[in-house]
Amino acid sequence: MIRMYDLILKKRNGGILNREEIRWMIDGYTNGSIPDYQMSAMMMAIYFQGMTKEETYELTIAMEESGDRMDLSSIPGIKADKHSTGGVGDKISLVLAPIMAALGVPLAKMSGRGLGHTGGTIDKLESIPGFTTDLTEEQFIRQVKEIGLAIMGQTKDLAPADKLLYALRDTTATVDQVSLIASSIMSKKLAAGADVIVLDVKAGSGAFMKTKEDAIELASEMIEIGKAAGKKIAAVISNMDEPLGFAVGNALEVKEAIAALKGEWPKDLKELVYGLGIRMLILSGKAKSEEEAYRKMDDCIANREALRKLEAFISAQGGDANVIENVEMLPKAPVLLEVKAAENGYVAKMNAQEIGVCVFMLGGGRATKESVIDPSVGIVLDKKIGDPVQKGETLAWIHAKDLESAQEAEKHFLKYCNISAEQPAKKPMVQDVLFS
Ligand code: URA
Repeated sequence: MIRMYDLILKKRNGGILNREEIRWMIDGYTNGSIPDYQMSAMMMAIYFQGMTKEETYELTIAMEESGDRMDLSSIPGIKADKHSTGGVGDKISLVLAPIMAALGVPLAKMSGRGLGHTGGTIDKLESIPGFTTDLTEEQFIRQVKEIGLAIMGQTKDLAPADKLLYALRDTTATVDQVSLIASSIMSKKLAAGADVIVLDVKAGSGAFMKTKEDAIELASEMIEIGKAAGKKIAAVISNMDEPLGFAVGNALEVKEAIAALKGEWPKDLKELVYGLGIRMLILSGKAKSEEEAYRKMDDCIANREALRKLEAFISAQGGDANVIENVEMLPKAPVLLEVKAAENGYVAKMNAQEIGVCVFMLGGGRATKESVIDPSVGIVLDKKIGDPVQKGETLAWIHAKDLESAQEAEKHFLKYCNISAEQPAKKPMVQDVLFS
């Protein structure tokens, strides 16, 4: 007979849990027979002792199998999915998904809402008048068949064991353990059913993983799990020392994404969309080389096929697609405050997490899952790290509901936007690409 006490003791002493034990533990925790206090002790033991590759894989599969799984088999072709470990100003899905759909890669994506300083794709999309992500599974699958793209909120009970465990880890200081993060993310990705998975693993001040090395370690674990589960998988390690692109805030990011699909790109956004897209096209068999993938992406921006795909996607999910030609239809904040540089020099730091906090302070982020957000507020940067700046020049524009919140956000922004006499080295957006 398996007893939770014995498993905790085994792991605490550096032992290795086998498949049967891991399955038993996850089943027991999901059905409530294993209490939180024992599972907390286990998470802490794992935090200190780590897990082998086999244990991490078994934990992932046990969590994946704890609930429903999405069946995408009726959709023809190789289905792709993309996952970001979370950042600030991350509007990648809004741009990448229409490009991939235009190039014949079906994307059936479940996305989340923002929490704390990070945004969520669902919130961004819902800033488009009429847009809904509240689709039934049938509508979702039908839409992917019809236009090659659908994004919905997570309505199915995917990986419920992970939901319980993540909430527990969040309150017991056991989130930041590589095997636990890798298994948590991958359990949901596997349950979501795609054949190809491309991961955007962020490294930097606005990310879970603060260094490139840690991000590579996490990406490698996720790739191992994906491969073992029979998926085609790759990871791009991307820089999150500063926000992605210029816009941070829901409607502001949609506006930037629409402009990108018209060929008006912030440089870093293009680099990352292409970095991820190249891997997705190659893994899906739609391009044989990086050069071919790059060219195909260029073409579908130039001939506006990606933009037309965005239009079809917005209409299919109840949104007003006129927004593409008339972005002024997006919610607009009444107050615009210019943030000016106090000295000459170069932008040396722009802490991504704290800029996310600014948007949160403006009302654009969620304190709890139930909070209502203001889609119109946010920050549009005028300068990025490495840019020269003169005293009095614009650093950013704050979009706010009132002057008081704008000034509060300005104070916070200036605290975390540092100007130095020397020009800092500019990090490339794509730090590394890992694939098997
Ligand atoms: N995101 C997840 O889904 N799980 C983690 O453990 C960390 C980040």
